[in-house]
Amino acid sequence: MQVVNTVQDLKKWVQSTTQSGRSIGLVPTMGFLHEGHMALVEAAKAENDVVAMSIFVNPAQFGPNEDFDRYPRDFERDSMLAEKAGVDIIFAPSVKEMYPHDSQITMSAGMLANVLCGKSRPGHFDGVLKVVTKLFHLVQPNAAYFGQKDAQQLAIIESLVRDFNFSLKIRRVETVREQDGLAKSSRNVYLSNAERREAPELYRSLQRGVKDAREGQDPIPEMIRLIESETSGTIDYIELLSYPDLQQEPKEQAILALAVQFQKARLIDNIIFNLK
Ligand code: PAJ
Repeated sequence: MQVVNTVQDLKKWVQSTTQSGRSIGLVPTMGFLHEGHMALVEAAKAENDVVAMSIFVNPAQFGPNEDFDRYPRDFERDSMLAEKAGVDIIFAPSVKEMYPHDSQITMSAGMLANVLCGKSRPGHFDGVLKVVTKLFHLVQPNAAYFGQKDAQQLAIIESLVRDFNFSLKIRRVETVREQDGLAKSSRNVYLSNAERREAPELYRSLQRGVKDAREGQDPIPEMIRLIESETSGTIDYIELLSYPDLQQEPKEQAILALAVQFQKARLIDNIIFNLK
């Protein structure tokens, strides 16, 4: 497995790979890898000749009071895991390499960012669009792999690719969970022992909510009750929307999504399902 830190070295690899006619699957990450990331690698390996993974904690998608500085990082461990999983190249640029100067041109996720995480994290998805666009142009992948765990991010990237004719496919990968249902996340390490025991309640409440929504009931009051009585977290949002267009009053394909703030970790989770 190769590790490159510069755009120039990455471009050389991309050129020789595409010239030899090999297809590239891209797995963009912020590192601190877990089985969720590895499921993306597996999917990319199954469909492409080679797999490129980016590891870059993207400052553009963190708000001023968010956890950019203390976001967990462990490059040694990540590169061992990536190599074992069969990744061919890791692109791990510095912030200066990725953003050598302030661009005057900005990207906006627009209405799709007015709900769910976009509402509580202003500018977050604009920063995701910025880095993902750069990665798509640099790596020139045939397909890029994203997790449904970050369903709003996935919907926004699908819209970017469709609306602006990017020539790659976006692949959705199902959320990987711990045995007790908690969605795997790099941020789970921030949970205290007590919070970790409570956290599976988020998925349980989503499952209950999906059942209620399918039976034609408003799922949200019971979910609020469950989370408030079974966890010490504070609910940021619980929303039922259509998916992937994220509109109110879904009719068929829907997403039930939540964000709950614990002491040091803000956890998100969702279920995408058919109402009919
Ligand atoms: P990160 O949080 O590292 O996640 C990288 C990818 O792994 C995303 O597509 C995310 O949805 C997926 N993922 C995370 N947890 C998962 C789980 N439990 N099951 C399945 N997939 C999971 O998302 C980002 O980084 C960044 O915003 C990025 C897209 C890299 C842009 O900076």
